[in-house]
Amino acid sequence: MDKEILIKEILEKVLNNFGLTIQIRLEKPANPDFGDLSSNLAMIAYGQVSDKFKSPREFATVIIEKIKELDQEKIFEEITIAGPGFINFKLNSDQLLKTFSQKDKSKEIELINLGLGKKAIVEYSSPNIAKPFTIGHLRSTIIGDSVANLLEASGYQVFRDNHLGDWGTQFGKQIVAIKRWGNEEEIANAENPVEKLVALYVKFHEEAEKDPSLDDEARLWFKKLEDGDEEARALWQKCIDWSFKEFATIYEYLGVKFTENNGRGYGESFFENMLQPLIAELKEKGIAQIGKEGAILIFYPNDQLSPLMIAKKDGSTLYATRDLATDKWRLENPRYQNADGSAPLVVNEVGGEQAFYFQQLYLAEQILGWYKKGQRVHVKHGLYRFKEGKMSTRKGNVIWLQEVLNKAKEKAMAFTKDEEIAKAVSVAALKWNDLKRKSDADINFDWDEILNLQGNSGPYMLYAYARAKSILRKAAESEAKPVENGDFEISALEKSLITSLDEFNKAVARAASEFSPHYLCNYLFDLAQIFNSFYNKYPILNSSLERQFRLQLVEAVSSTLAKGLNLLGIKTLEKM
Ligand code: ARG
Repeated sequence: MDKEILIKEILEKVLNNFGLTIQIRLEKPANPDFGDLSSNLAMIAYGQVSDKFKSPREFATVIIEKIKELDQEKIFEEITIAGPGFINFKLNSDQLLKTFSQKDKSKEIELINLGLGKKAIVEYSSPNIAKPFTIGHLRSTIIGDSVANLLEASGYQVFRDNHLGDWGTQFGKQIVAIKRWGNEEEIANAENPVEKLVALYVKFHEEAEKDPSLDDEARLWFKKLEDGDEEARALWQKCIDWSFKEFATIYEYLGVKFTENNGRGYGESFFENMLQPLIAELKEKGIAQIGKEGAILIFYPNDQLSPLMIAKKDGSTLYATRDLATDKWRLENPRYQNADGSAPLVVNEVGGEQAFYFQQLYLAEQILGWYKKGQRVHVKHGLYRFKEGKMSTRKGNVIWLQEVLNKAKEKAMAFTKDEEIAKAVSVAALKWNDLKRKSDADINFDWDEILNLQGNSGPYMLYAYARAKSILRKAAESEAKPVENGDFEISALEKSLITSLDEFNKAVARAASEFSPHYLCNYLFDLAQIFNSFYNKYPILNSSLERQFRLQLVEAVSSTLAKGLNLLGIKTLEKM
């Protein structure tokens, strides 16, 4: 059982004796010499018992006596008072050692069973066809993949979907541009076909400013596309294939996969023929109405939110129409239903700039009775801030993701001569940089921070793991020394390592239930730091009495780091 919970139980009992109920919080003292855990409860509760005790310190003394009476399992080795009334707890080494070696035997992850028997769809990446795969899509890919892993680890059956932007009126413009100024062969053979398509799209906008009839032409071509015109369909399909050439390389590089639609994900176009019936249904139910300008909109009760447009005046559908159709289809598809027929959890990992839109979408789906509160979750990510500023497709000053990936790898070559290792290090560096802070925060993109071996970085984490593995390898190779028996003291650092190892499940559970991988990163970084201090301070292979115990610690650290990093989508390296 988690030590903290046990200690809190004892403290609650003691406080109850005094007729007190307060929220108990335990802190880790910055200096482990002061104890393993510390509490300020005597100071907080003193106001309520000041008639009985002269000072918080005196109150603390009495509390400590009571704790000692109740501590039958001898969890505590020493309990002391510090300062104005802090209570510092030193945990009993034998007890810790006993529970630690028991724990090690059951290696499985026993998490809170948040999602046991339930289903979840996690949708991430979702780039647009014929547009660059942006940094935003990179963030979505990394964070979404990790959220999916975390939900899987807590019992959910997870479906990984990619909501590709492969439909919409922009394809009319793209087709016109290809037909007028493009060379299909040249695009197909280009190293980066999307770059060519984006250039054509930019040209369309430049030309249309001079000649507005181009916009009519584009509308016509989109209509043809909708009506199944052969030429329109063929060009559109080519755009998809050209784009996928790039997407597939990126996913392969990042080691990210999708499970739906044969690993491609269900793009917006998949829902095309469900759009008109959906609009009719919403109109019939009175949820959507024709607005003043002739468009069809969803109006919210009491105007809680501004209306959501689902069809333009000319009848064409929008992003929102396709999302509604997607979520209805998911709801009705037995593949995604829970055993009791209820709706799955559906998570969209999409940039924070779409937060308002997702509020509108979720509220509409709630009003429709499709999903309940909490069954739809928007995991938001913030922006990367480069010196160049935010990027824009229209103007063409784009930061190409491939360039970022290449540069990351190039920089990682500073650590190693091995291409494969450099690749793994660079991916770990980028992923960790994205996952280590709250996902909705903006990131000042800084190569030095991302690759810093001394700091909170992917390479630092990989290095801690590789170091642990190297000790274990050496231990296996070195001649087995006879195990010496005898008493030894567990040091404060070793104790905090044990306590920290105990907290893995809690960290995973929190990260999963709050859709926030950064809680796991914080935990793992903490663990790696304690491990590194331990490694620098104590001999492991050359210790006699402690050798076996310390190797057990190293083993536990390495397997915990590996489990954690894998949940973040980061592949560990045995050597670096
Ligand atoms: N393709 C969209 C974009 O690049 C993201 C799609 C997000 N998912 C969704 N269901 N709307 O902005």
